Amino acid sequence: MNVKIYFIALILNLFLIINLKSQTKTIQSHDVILSPKVEALFKQMTIEEKIGQLNLLTPGGAVTGEVVSKNVEEKIIKGNVGGIFGIRGAEKIRIAQELAVNKSRLRIPLLVGMDVIHGHQTILPLPLALSCTWDMKLIEASARQAAREATADGIMWAFSPMVDIARDPRWGRISEGSGEDPFLGSEISKAMVHGYQGNDFSDPTTMIACVKHFALYGAAEGGRDYAAADMSKVRMFNEYLPPFKAAIDAGVGSIMTSFNVVDYFPASANSYLLQEVLKNSWGFNGLVVTDYTSVNEMVDHGIGDLQHVSAAALIAGVDMDMVGEGFVTTLKKSLNEGKITIQQIDLACRKVLKSKELLGLFEDPYRYCDAERAEKEILSQGNRDFARKIAAESFVLLKNKEQLLPLSKAGKIAVVGPLADSRRNMLGTWSVSGDPEKAVTVLEGIKNAIGNKAEINYAKGANLSDDPIFAKKVNVFGEEIKIDSRDPQLMINEAITLAEKSDVIIAVMGEAADMSGESSSMADIGLQKSQTKLLEELKKLGKPIVMVLYTGRPLTLVWENENIDAILNVWFGGTEGGNAVGDVLFGDANPGGKLSTSFPVHVGQIPVYHSMLNTGRPYGGQANSKFLSNYLDIPNEPLYPFGYGLSYTNFEYGTLKISNSNMTTQSKIEVSLTVTNAGNRESSEIVQLYIRDLVGSISRPVKELKGFQKIYFKPGESKTVSFTIDNELLKFYNSELKFDSEPGIFQVFVGPNSRDVKMVEFELK
Ligand code: NOJ
Repeated sequence: MNVKIYFIALILNLFLIINLKSQTKTIQSHDVILSPKVEALFKQMTIEEKIGQLNLLTPGGAVTGEVVSKNVEEKIIKGNVGGIFGIRGAEKIRIAQELAVNKSRLRIPLLVGMDVIHGHQTILPLPLALSCTWDMKLIEASARQAAREATADGIMWAFSPMVDIARDPRWGRISEGSGEDPFLGSEISKAMVHGYQGNDFSDPTTMIACVKHFALYGAAEGGRDYAAADMSKVRMFNEYLPPFKAAIDAGVGSIMTSFNVVDYFPASANSYLLQEVLKNSWGFNGLVVTDYTSVNEMVDHGIGDLQHVSAAALIAGVDMDMVGEGFVTTLKKSLNEGKITIQQIDLACRKVLKSKELLGLFEDPYRYCDAERAEKEILSQGNRDFARKIAAESFVLLKNKEQLLPLSKAGKIAVVGPLADSRRNMLGTWSVSGDPEKAVTVLEGIKNAIGNKAEINYAKGANLSDDPIFAKKVNVFGEEIKIDSRDPQLMINEAITLAEKSDVIIAVMGEAADMSGESSSMADIGLQKSQTKLLEELKKLGKPIVMVLYTGRPLTLVWENENIDAILNVWFGGTEGGNAVGDVLFGDANPGGKLSTSFPVHVGQIPVYHSMLNTGRPYGGQANSKFLSNYLDIPNEPLYPFGYGLSYTNFEYGTLKISNSNMTTQSKIEVSLTVTNAGNRESSEIVQLYIRDLVGSISRPVKELKGFQKIYFKPGESKTVSFTIDNELLKFYNSELKFDSEPGIFQVFVGPNSRDVKMVEFELK
């Protein structure tokens, strides 16, 4: 790639973005500046070839819908394809590029995308788990590692990060995001974009990231995937859009529209979202791609026929149409009928070409097809070591009665439960390039941790579920729920016999990998009956029980919290998750995570999250709760609040001090306290800052996360932890969608989670 031209173009584009921010001017096709070589190519393109660039197909493999693209090779040769996704391998991608580069008229290389979601072939913890590390360096490194593997595997475009705020654990895709909070979500969004894209696309280990799904996909009604989302603009701007804005400010190269309807109009042709917000207000000049067949799905949304919805998507600002081929089959007709303009096609086409240019594909279409690099980098020991470390950092210790954990490496240990020896389930959902055979099971991880220092006995004890109809629905990608041929009671009996002879019981329970993820909504988010039955029987033995919990969503765990001695939530830890479980159970590593999403007491509480608005009748635990905002049958508070997670040591928080109780829009104040590791183990602690704006022009949340620090402490060590508060931190979108602060009293809270906090006040003058 000609570096000089690249930088000149970059500066011009930056200038354009800055300009757009002040002028809110709509981007025109000539605003997308191409290198002279690509510009010359563009000038030679026919209408069909331009529209061809807007077509994104999948030749098969990893798909998430009914439709798989047909005759892809022939279409590439004809110049009817701009990009492909869902296949990988340096050699395979080389063959596909050869078709485009050697056989199509203009020799334009293909963009090659993939769902690189949590790692590529070395699978890392689920995104929801990664968010629980609260460690931006580690999260960025996770995306960097994924990018190094993916780019060695022929891929240059990651359909990640997913930054949808999700407050409904019934929605299976809560597993793919960073939880309930826009502040944490925005930090993670930036870290992921930096991780994938690096600083310079001329480095062949970097790739274009694709922030998704724009927008409000996580607010699906009833938690049912693909359902409509509807909310006020104030909420949208304050709570759901910030992680997208953060990705754009971090320079993300592309964005994916969402399947759902927003404000009664599908997101994939929603000109308010795609024109007004994304382009005119935020100045986004990168590639806009739809989700899988989401153009076609607008027919079912009742917006019009395929020609109409395709034109609507292009006009709204979509550049690439994923899989459905609405663009390639109808745009020319719409152009001839005057329903769209050539400028609209040109703009989209130039943005596709621009992305290819940024990636250096016009210089070397095969720069991501390095089989030698693939051999060296994919699933390397170094990558596996990183996966093991980050998995432990994502584990959240929910309960640890009388410091049962860490266990000592001695005596007799019973390992039971349907996930203890299930390699198939270890990677979790959305791990399309991961090979479950390469994953370490929990049983293996435990054995690796203790060697021959203790006796381990294993029994499955229960199926993940005994319901064959449910199992069939879950088992779309393989037999994750394997229903044993034995009678369930016999399995329980076997586990009990074994547990009776043991000093401690480790029960590995939870969800199958694809009980969360796309199209995996659940109405009941408790453990399956087969598993609770086993736990109830084990409980009767009176032996100490540790539950290792695999899940892609918050579960309702009231019984478990009351009856099980220790609960270690390990989400889905990926390829090395089993080893990480072994490390943490026996104290070779600490559980480093805190929750990025609240765990409800009951599904009827949903949504329950830390930054709710107050009611006019707040219930604060008074004896008489009549006519106050509460439930007759359950508490208001979640079982485990946002930010919660125990550690193997004990942290003490000192008095919260404030440098000045008055602040102006120009000044800064500092809050600080002493945090002490009062236990005898080294450990990290995630110290959290929350703020409440007591009186505003609109109602303000009871608490909003505004800062956090993950700090390492030696045993007995004390550290002063301080946070700076400035005007920027106090701004919010008001009812006119103006982003500003308002004078008045603010409460500041600091603590180990969103519930157990210390408070001070200040006034913004
Ligand atoms: C559908 C999913 O919603 C999206 O996240 C994914 O990137 C595409 N399919 C491509 O597989």
